[in-house]
Amino acid sequence: MNVDKIREDFPVLSKKVIYFDSACMSLKPVQVIEKMNEYYNEYPACAGRSVHRLGIKLEGEIADARELVKKFINARNSKEIIFTKNTTESINLLANSLNFKKVLLTDKEHNSNSLPWRKFKYGVIKSNQDFTFNLEKFNKGIKDYDLISFVLTSNVDGYNLPAKEIIKIAHENNVKVHFDAAQTVPHQEIDVKKLDVDFISFSGHKMLGPTGTGVFYGKEELLDEMKQFLVGGETVIDSTYTNFVPEPLPAKFEAGLQNYSGIIGLGAAVKYLQKVGLNNIHEHEVKLVKSVNADGLELIGYSGERGIFNFNIPKVTHHEVAHILNYGKNIMVRSGRHCVHPWYNSNNIDGSVRASFYLYNTLDEVKIFNEEIEKLKKLS
Ligand SMILES: Cc1ncc(COP(=O)(O)O)c(C=O)c1O
Repeated sequence: MNVDKIREDFPVLSKKVIYFDSACMSLKPVQVIEKMNEYYNEYPACAGRSVHRLGIKLEGEIADARELVKKFINARNSKEIIFTKNTTESINLLANSLNFKKVLLTDKEHNSNSLPWRKFKYGVIKSNQDFTFNLEKFNKGIKDYDLISFVLTSNVDGYNLPAKEIIKIAHENNVKVHFDAAQTVPHQEIDVKKLDVDFISFSGHKMLGPTGTGVFYGKEELLDEMKQFLVGGETVIDSTYTNFVPEPLPAKFEAGLQNYSGIIGLGAAVKYLQKVGLNNIHEHEVKLVKSVNADGLELIGYSGERGIFNFNIPKVTHHEVAHILNYGKNIMVRSGRHCVHPWYNSNNIDGSVRASFYLYNTLDEVKIFNEEIEKLKKLS
């Protein structure tokens, strides 16, 4: 993987920023930006309704993007790929389209995979002291539930759940499985068919794609069972004043005119990631995270499996650290509770600093980060 060459594709990197906030929002390569502009410059029409040349061209581009995403996660059918605006919308779609008796969550869920489930009865499984998942506890408690909705890769510590084992146990107990894969799909290969997972949600903007793009995947037979959540234009074949006939998949869940430039930009992002190779990206991220000097820092979990490094410096607040890094050497990290407020509150931690790495980051950047952290430690 040629990181120097990759960096040339990301226009904002020419502004000398050290961008360590990709778990929040990834940067966009020029290939994605150009593909989005292609929509506005060449076929800025609506899809799925107009029979003119521009409409037909766009229809083909959207179908191509859907096919790219389908292959990327190895879905059986492109009908199983529903375009949404982000992971949050994908999860809300599931929570509002099927009725669940009781949903099981982990204690490290992002608010987006916590709040939507509170309309049902729900339980929370606590992680082990070392931040790992307790399969034994899970195995014992699973019988009470009909859905588990877990964060597959934590945005707090980068820990990856033992997905295969969890799915096996859940399915043996007739429990459906949804994974919040927002921090997984951008960084490792996911094969939904092989995993036999029922649903996953992820965001385009964390995987080099445009903002306002997301994906909800579900097995076709389950998507067919789901009622519509948002309804309106494009979600019906026909309607009268009193009735309507829903569209089949995937249009059934894609209400109104869509973020067309975003969707085709997401297709370009998938192509880009495939070209570089997710295994190469993962290996690179692990190298970066392992080169961070953790001496004297309070670590908030540390898996070393992902490019996520979450920490505090004793006696310096997390926001102070983020501001100083930003104003000093243009190092951009995130500080706060990372939208996982329940976990931070229950552990009495006010917040933390998260540096998150991606394919365009370098060991030289981590070296500068280490030097700045050394200076900050002297303040404590
Ligand atoms: C694990 C996880 N789940 C869900 C989300 C929500 O993603 P979005 O804001 O794109 O809906 C995020 C975003 O940071 C995340 O890290």
